[in-house]
Amino acid sequence: MKLHHGLGPVFGLFFLAACGSEEEGTEIQPIDYYQGTASAELGAAGNQARCSTCHSNDGSKRSGATMKDIAYRSAFKGGDAPNLLAGTNACVTGWMGGTALTASDPGYVALLSYLQSISSPSVTTPNPLAPEVLADEAAYETAYAGGDAAAGASKYSASCGGCHDGSLKVGPASSYPKSSLKSFSIGRIAQKVRTSGPPPSGSADASDTTPGPMPFFEPTDLPAQDLKDIIAHLKAG
Ligand code: HEC
Ligand code: HEC
Repeated sequence: MKLHHGLGPVFGLFFLAACGSEEEGTEIQPIDYYQGTASAELGAAGNQARCSTCHSNDGSKRSGATMKDIAYRSAFKGGDAPNLLAGTNACVTGWMGGTALTASDPGYVALLSYLQSISSPSVTTPNPLAPEVLADEAAYETAYAGGDAAAGASKYSASCGGCHDGSLKVGPASSYPKSSLKSFSIGRIAQKVRTSGPPPSGSADASDTTPGPMPFFEPTDLPAQDLKDIIAHLKAG
């Protein structure tokens, strides 16, 4: 399953059933700000990442928290963002390279209505935010050596392939092609996956040396064994 295309078939069906026509050539729908070109266009010119690249809408895990039941939480980004607009803007500016939205921006109004439509007002507790920040690359090397390369192939496709198989552009940066990832050390790959990204993320920590538009994965999003296996798969490939 590719990250950014993973929901395509499901929502293609939904859309056809609901509206009787395809996305292209018809009016922009609120969901398009989550998963369509309207979403990518919230970022820098050329940005290909959409909210759906990093956030599911059905409770399943990607690098970012699921957008299901997101809208009514009382704080975001581990308390760094006081409201949904601020949480959204951290991604729009930090990862997607775009300009911060305002509450009355038509794009934000549409996005908000979609996020509210998949959220229960009774879910208000903030999501925890706990990136794994270890001392240095050597510490990640120790923690993430020794994975199972064969088991890593499908795990790589699920968590990394959506961006790295097609060099997807996230904000201003292209994702390195898969074949080039093996040139990084085990420790470097693990550190990148665990801490990359602009504040408020693991890169706000002084020991982080990998800030960049690639999103980070918390251990709750990608368990340690899965990352070990992915790295073994990359190094073997
Ligand atoms: C390149 C990946 C990426 C893209 C694109 C992206 N996000 Fe995020 N987002 C993240 C990561 C990583 C986090 C922080 C970790 C977490 O919250 O699980 C995050 C956090 C958030 C949060 C805070 C969640 C919480 O409960 O604290 C919100 C809200 C959010 N994003 C909304 C959006 C919206 C809306 C879009 C599209 C306009 C978007 N994001 C695009 C990766 C991304
Ligand atoms: C949302 C898209 C996206 C996803 C998902 C993603 N990456 Fe990346 N990755 C990028 C981008 C963009 C860059 C280049 C910019 C940067 O360094 O942040 C990058 C850079 C890297 C680098 C280079 C590190 C360095 O030191 O420069 C490594 C290694 C890497 N990714 C591994 C992974 C692995 C392993 C996964 C899956 C667990 C993964 N990526 C998931 C977008 C992504």
